[in-house]
Amino acid sequence: MRFILFLLLYLAPFTAISIEEDLNSLENLFVEKRCITCHVVGRGKFVGPDLYDVLSKYSEEDILQWIQNPQAIYKKYSKMPINDGYPPMPYMNVDSSEAKRLLEYLKRTKGLVRKNSRVKISGTIKNFSENKLLDSQEVQLEFVMADKVKNTEKQITNNGNFIFNNLIGNIAYRIKIFYDGIEYSTDKFYFLPRENNKSVDLIVYDSTQKIKNLKVNSSHLIISYDEDSESIVIAEIINVENQSRNIFVGTNNFSEKIRKINSYALFPGIENLGFPHRSKETFIVSQENVIDTLPMPPGNRRIVLTYAKQLNFFSTTISKVFLNDISSLTIIVPENKLSFTLDGLEYIRKEAGIKELEDDQYSTYSISDITKGQEIKLTFRKYDLFFNTKSVIGIIFILFMLGIFLYKRFKKT
Ligand code: HEC
Repeated sequence: MRFILFLLLYLAPFTAISIEEDLNSLENLFVEKRCITCHVVGRGKFVGPDLYDVLSKYSEEDILQWIQNPQAIYKKYSKMPINDGYPPMPYMNVDSSEAKRLLEYLKRTKGLVRKNSRVKISGTIKNFSENKLLDSQEVQLEFVMADKVKNTEKQITNNGNFIFNNLIGNIAYRIKIFYDGIEYSTDKFYFLPRENNKSVDLIVYDSTQKIKNLKVNSSHLIISYDEDSESIVIAEIINVENQSRNIFVGTNNFSEKIRKINSYALFPGIENLGFPHRSKETFIVSQENVIDTLPMPPGNRRIVLTYAKQLNFFSTTISKVFLNDISSLTIIVPENKLSFTLDGLEYIRKEAGIKELEDDQYSTYSISDITKGQEIKLTFRKYDLFFNTKSVIGIIFILFMLGIFLYKRFKKT
């Protein structure tokens, strides 16, 4: 008897926790599978119908079908959409065990939410540059549905605080501030069915046009060789830091309607320039450089460029003149595949087995304290100049022709 009591006492808190945890993980699935971007539970219509009454509307099989494969529902009832005034529900790529968990979530949530409950968004706005709360600042709340702004509400901060009360909750929200020439915006956000309050703390900065606080701390050129296209492919990673407490908005005049934050040199003649981490529209690209146009808050920014260069038959040189001081530049080259020489700057060379790039033997070239105006030259040569298949076939062909020629000459005489 004592033993049983002991077990119960110990299990009780664990079971309570595991049920709570489970509901949170079901809730995460509702977010992860994007249901939250179209449905609420108990707060009315959104992009799709309120799921509060869905359990009395359909059998469990039908609900699972809705979640996994709405097309099957449309087929079964020969109607699309089922609910008038809504678009059809898209296929959401949910497997059957996930669908069961989402059904479980809808069942449990219904008992936990109050129908038509309202929501609240409160928060503070802080000016980072002056390290104080921002008073009398206008804050705009946008009501967003399917990427369209349906409504807005405005408020002025009181001691840096704002509260938007009594909101409907069956829509997405976004907060915007316009401060010292810059617009700040949150991402769209949604309320979970059990969630009634959200607190959002925002940071703004005073702007500056002084470029002296901008430092390029490091830059990496990661080079790989694509044997099929006989091209080198380069990923260039530039780490730049704004060391001030203000947002840097570029040195140019805004009447140009574009902010020129900083320029970075390109190797002329490269191909397929891409920006894998950001949209291309946020840069101005020319033959010799790229200009970043996004205002830079205090702290670090990483700029990533990728490009390629087709190698010539003998050797290929690319060079550029740096537009910034750079504390450290590292070049990583697969020297087992390419011959490489670096000219123009002093460097330290190391053979390195890099974990992430296991199957290749890389060398690293490290250069310190580059100053603006210095030039770098990279020269590449293919190793297989005389031993690749094309050359071998060519040589055999020449020998063969020579053989025929000599044979004919020999026969004549
Ligand atoms: C892009 C928006 C969108 C997303 C994302 C979405 N749905 Fe839907 N859903 C709809 C629309 C619109 C309908 C109504 C379609 C109709 O009536 O034919 C609907 C209908 C439903 C229904 C039937 C509701 C009723 O009252 O008839 C259920 C259940 C449902 N969705 C569950 C989910 C779940 C669970 C997820 C997440 C895996 C999800 N939906 C994701 C838009 C969406």
